[in-house]
Amino acid sequence: MSISNHKAPLLDLFSSEFKGKAYSFYTRLRENEPVYRFMLPNGQIAWLITQYEDAQAALKDNRFIKNPHTLLSQEQMNKLIPMLERDLLINNMALSDPPDHTRLRNLVQKAFTPKMIKELRGRIQEITDTLLDEIQDKGKMNVIDEFAFPLPIIVIFEMLGIPTKDRDQFREWSNVIIEAITIDIPEKMQEALPKIQSLIKYIGHLIEERRKDPTEDLVSALIQAETEGKKLTENELYSMIFLLIIAGYETTVNLIGNGVLALLQHPEQLEKLKSNPELISSAIEEILRFYGPVELATSRWAGEDVLLHEKMIRKGDMIVVALASANRDETQFKNPDLFDITRKNNCHLAFGMGIHYCLGAPLARLEGQIALLTLLRRMPNLRLNTDAETLKWRPTFVMRGLIELPVVF
Ligand code: HEM
Repeated sequence: MSISNHKAPLLDLFSSEFKGKAYSFYTRLRENEPVYRFMLPNGQIAWLITQYEDAQAALKDNRFIKNPHTLLSQEQMNKLIPMLERDLLINNMALSDPPDHTRLRNLVQKAFTPKMIKELRGRIQEITDTLLDEIQDKGKMNVIDEFAFPLPIIVIFEMLGIPTKDRDQFREWSNVIIEAITIDIPEKMQEALPKIQSLIKYIGHLIEERRKDPTEDLVSALIQAETEGKKLTENELYSMIFLLIIAGYETTVNLIGNGVLALLQHPEQLEKLKSNPELISSAIEEILRFYGPVELATSRWAGEDVLLHEKMIRKGDMIVVALASANRDETQFKNPDLFDITRKNNCHLAFGMGIHYCLGAPLARLEGQIALLTLLRRMPNLRLNTDAETLKWRPTFVMRGLIELPVVF
């Protein structure tokens, strides 16, 4: 991988191998070329922003926008998301700008406040214990499939009112979809299309059922907003449900998985946490900084020309804020490659910043805390059941998450 700005190299940011060496690559970029021009597989020119200060500023800079429709031609848009169904998936707050963003976020904000989330503590603990009851006597498990995946998906499904028995089906759909829609590789898109259609059909059935028979869940509340106040169009309703499902578990699976990995790779930190469980809040913040689940997903579009580090980011170019790089920036964090669960002033950017700051942060933090503490209490002899070289990261642009994490206890 050369660091050159003359041409735009096609960066292999997607493979499992890249994830293994990503942090040293980011370090070189921060030092040598902090705003780095590269090409995405669909031919789109993008700029990787790697320093902490620039990342923070870019996330708050309203010259960088989320919805590119005013910047790109129909042909370019089709190249970007070449599918008929896109209107049903992408009309969500994460891909919109004010005033749409403000309206959409306000509709669900109430359900995700720290106070509302606190009320879920008992239920999250119950789900965690039930999952571990099923595993306890086995002596080994794959943390990702058996623990880190079911916990957040059951929680978000219960909030939305989706039957939890359908969770494996969702996982299969979303694994393919998330890769396809975030990197726009045409072949991946073709592969994903039938899954996208199945998912849309499923959401359609759910909406129909709740229209006939409303309950206390979030989907019913959103349908009410759609029918009553014209606050939400039908496309936005589908897109909101899709976003909440995907954002609600894809990331938290990796917070739990990466957290277990980081602790098992640093036995002295693990012991410290076991004997001082009150360190759990700062341990979660350090996991978010050290192995943040969202590595590069935070893309935006330049709404006008922007000059940064002597590089001209042209109107219509994409920028990708490398949160994983910002979170290891030595100008912000002392010994950034050190995993230290007692780290102070840990102002990491793992949940983003500005108006798109993660809506689900209080929920993710609570799930992460309960999951890790309960796991360590109930399985105090937890050990990795594989060597570091055989660990495989998921080949996705967006996330940092393991394909599997075998442990014994
Ligand atoms: C936005 C990370 C869990 C819902 C974001 C963003 C990041 C992020 C970095 C900002 C993206 C940007 O600026 O482009 C994470 C991480 C999580 C997590 C690391 C787990 C550890 C959750 C959960 C939910 C959620 C549990 C619950 C539904 C959302 C939503 C947005 C968002 C709806 C869009 C907010 C907006 O555009 O205003 N998340 N997230 N996230 N997250 Fe999370």
